[in-house]
Amino acid sequence: MACLVKAIVAGNYGEGYRLAGEIGAETLGVVEKVFPDGEQYVRISEPEKAKGSKVVVVSTMYPMQDQAFIKLLMLGDALARSQAAMYLAVIPYLAYSRQDKVFMPGEPVSALIVVNTLKAAGFRKLVVVDFHSSSLLSQLNDYIVNVMVSDLLVKTLMSDAERPVILAPDKGALERARFAANSIGVDYDYLVKSRDRVTGEVSYTPRELRVAGRDVIIVDDIVSTGGTIAEASRMLMKQGARRIHVATSHGLLVGNALTRMLDAGVRRIALANTLGVRVDHPLVEYVDVVPRLATVVKEILGSEP
Ligand code: R5P
Repeated sequence: MACLVKAIVAGNYGEGYRLAGEIGAETLGVVEKVFPDGEQYVRISEPEKAKGSKVVVVSTMYPMQDQAFIKLLMLGDALARSQAAMYLAVIPYLAYSRQDKVFMPGEPVSALIVVNTLKAAGFRKLVVVDFHSSSLLSQLNDYIVNVMVSDLLVKTLMSDAERPVILAPDKGALERARFAANSIGVDYDYLVKSRDRVTGEVSYTPRELRVAGRDVIIVDDIVSTGGTIAEASRMLMKQGARRIHVATSHGLLVGNALTRMLDAGVRRIALANTLGVRVDHPLVEYVDVVPRLATVVKEILGSEP
């Protein structure tokens, strides 16, 4: 008998209902609450419907990364106890991914803690949009299915771009820049960034770039404080860039990040809809990545027993 597909959409990611619809899954209800002392609680409302089914849990990890993480772990445990045939998690934004190695002695590798703990909770695979760490992707042997979306983001910015060039703000973002540039057919390059590990301050090593008179599209995975983009934008404007556009998957936009980027000369920003929050601003545009996620999830469900 073919396995039925069910979806559990966590309360922090409303987009998940569309994903469930696109993969043809029945949505299972989940009760979520917070105990008076701050601890989290989840319960699958009709656990008997999970029994023998393939279950896709859809949740994201921003805002309130830690709460989202513990709830995912609890849902994994609940699904194992409910005898789901298999379950995977779609986590468009996987938090803690930037601490993907020991930068200073005494630090943990937080990204591995998150991934390994989700694996231990029984999730067969994690489907993630633009996972930060390419080095961990290869170490994790396909446990994370990385869905790249930089091409979709850049396409939305191309309409009024003149002689566009795509730039990665650091070498780590080069693969995303290359992916978008190759699928659209434009030039790409990268900047040499360093970050002070204590203050978090970003600086760039000047490089000869052919940006004069051109529209630059900076491609990155995360905008947090906006420091990376603001510094890059200032430097590129000094080198004669015509306009700066930003294509970033996860727009955390902490504090005054948006103003900081706009003040540094950024003209337009395209973000993926991977988070549980959005900003409302005329220069910020959200790109829907749910259809691409749905395609990937359908492929996995078709190939996983
Ligand atoms: C770092 O390697 C990431 O890819 C982003 O460039 C970084 O997280 C952006 O952070 P912020 O906006 O605070 O500079």
